[in-house]
Amino acid sequence: MKKIVIFASGTGSNALKIIEHFKKKSVGKVVLVVSNKKNAAVLDKAQQHNIPTLIINRTSFYKSESFLEVLKEYEADLLVLAGFLWLVPAYLVKAYPQKIVNIHPALLPKFGGKGMYGMNVHRAVYEAKETQTGITIHYVNEQYDEGAIIFQATCALTPEDLPEDISSKIRVLEHGNFPRIIEEIVKNYKLE
Ligand code: GRF
Repeated sequence: MKKIVIFASGTGSNALKIIEHFKKKSVGKVVLVVSNKKNAAVLDKAQQHNIPTLIINRTSFYKSESFLEVLKEYEADLLVLAGFLWLVPAYLVKAYPQKIVNIHPALLPKFGGKGMYGMNVHRAVYEAKETQTGITIHYVNEQYDEGAIIFQATCALTPEDLPEDISSKIRVLEHGNFPRIIEEIVKNYKLE
């Protein structure tokens, strides 16, 4: 049974899909939801599923490595960023090599990097008149959106698709793929 910790800053629709997915699986379990926003909707979703939550601040997350103690306490095997807007500190990337995954709402390396999140991404895709977009699930390293790509899925776009429509198409791809890809990663989990 691998233990999964989810990091999220906002709504948490992906976090909820992941929580629900693993409720039906014995291969993994969401043991903690971490957020940098004390009133993020993701926290209510976790609490509805009796999953412990933790609010982090910049000091606790960046200044000290005490956060590692918390992850050890929960015996975290895999860290899943599901709409987490902070850069992961180097000490965490080092402590969890190829064990931190992120989902990005575009086909990296296009439309990635600092500040490219949420509607910013969909607006950029729209303005670029892309005929397709998609999602990227990748390992996390010290740079935003630059770790090794694990999985990508695409969807077609029409000239009528506004940023909101792109966001909806992306959400369908995210919910339809992220939980399953995480399950694959957990099943093939290699202890370093
Ligand atoms: C998703 O679009 C994801 O790709 C991005 O942040 C968004 C999170 O949405 N990293 P939600 O909070 O899971 O609904």
